[in-house]
Amino acid sequence: MTYQTMHWQGDSTGTLWMIDQTLLPNEFLEIECATLESIWEAIKVLRVRGAPAIGVAAAYGVVTGLRAHRDVDRAAFDAQLQTVTSYLASSRPTAVNLFWALDRMGAVASQSAGVPPADMHDRLFAEAKAIALEDREMCKAIGRHGSELLGDGTGVLTHCNAGGLATAGDGTALSVMFAAAAAGKSIHVFADETRPLLQGARLTAWELQQRKIPVTVICDNMAAQVMKEGRIQAVVTGADRIAANGDAANKIGTYGVAVLAKAHNIPFYVAAPSSTFDLSLSHGDQIPIELRDREEIANGFGRKTVPDNVGVYNPAFDVTPAELISAIVTERGIIRQPTTAAIAEHLA
Ligand code: MRU
Repeated sequence: MTYQTMHWQGDSTGTLWMIDQTLLPNEFLEIECATLESIWEAIKVLRVRGAPAIGVAAAYGVVTGLRAHRDVDRAAFDAQLQTVTSYLASSRPTAVNLFWALDRMGAVASQSAGVPPADMHDRLFAEAKAIALEDREMCKAIGRHGSELLGDGTGVLTHCNAGGLATAGDGTALSVMFAAAAAGKSIHVFADETRPLLQGARLTAWELQQRKIPVTVICDNMAAQVMKEGRIQAVVTGADRIAANGDAANKIGTYGVAVLAKAHNIPFYVAAPSSTFDLSLSHGDQIPIELRDREEIANGFGRKTVPDNVGVYNPAFDVTPAELISAIVTERGIIRQPTTAAIAEHLA
């Protein structure tokens, strides 16, 4: 089956539709997000998730939040744009693609002073569509470049979901695997289940199954054993924000996987578009890490797994230091042994 993480129906006054990822793999349901609030909520509770997809949803959120402001004066339109942008920016803090997309939308407006609100709204719609389209192209290019890192017969470990569901296209880490498989290489993917919300077990396994790529789900705490058994020749993950020196934030547990990969002499690759870099941060310890609800761990999927009144700590991301990363794959190519200088040159 083919699936589109989200799509817009209609002209600039239309609505955003998305797969409700909280329901997978039990149910495949596309939901209409007709209001700004519903898009904010969808990002917050992970109906749409994954750094690039969050950016695309936010861009369409801006269009949605301004739909009723086509007939006001320009000052009122700009004020609403500001309100909508700040609101969407408050949904999740770590994936920089969200802020990158909102900045792009804001720049379109500030470069179009004097343009009447209805035209301005159409221009913002065009920009949101461009962000989605570019993301699709970036995913393809990441796959093309990254597939050369995977030889025939490779066992690949991935963490969380950096697939089509996390982007407007084929994904980042999974795009590398899709491209390798399309090139005729036989690969076997091991998907960490990815506690506490199981993006690996629920989403990555589902996507690979749709594409008929062999996949085995393992609990997060099995990665060391599976590596020791010689089943993994490469690790490929996505990223939510990469600092100027190459330190990369990704789903909680990624850092541990990178340490394990180092211990077993297995290359650890990060696949991410250039929109995931935040060159304003020199190091990864400056990346804001989202803290999520106790309930995700203590009462995940509707079953109590921690006694009441016991504390729970739930950071959603961690940061893998650049020295543990063998290469970063972007739509522009491969940065081997990432350093501040190599990244600056790559993105220049
Ligand atoms: O909390 P999530 O599901 O949004 O976390 C997603 C990840 O950590 C992904 O690996 C990352 O966003 C890259 S997606 C191409």
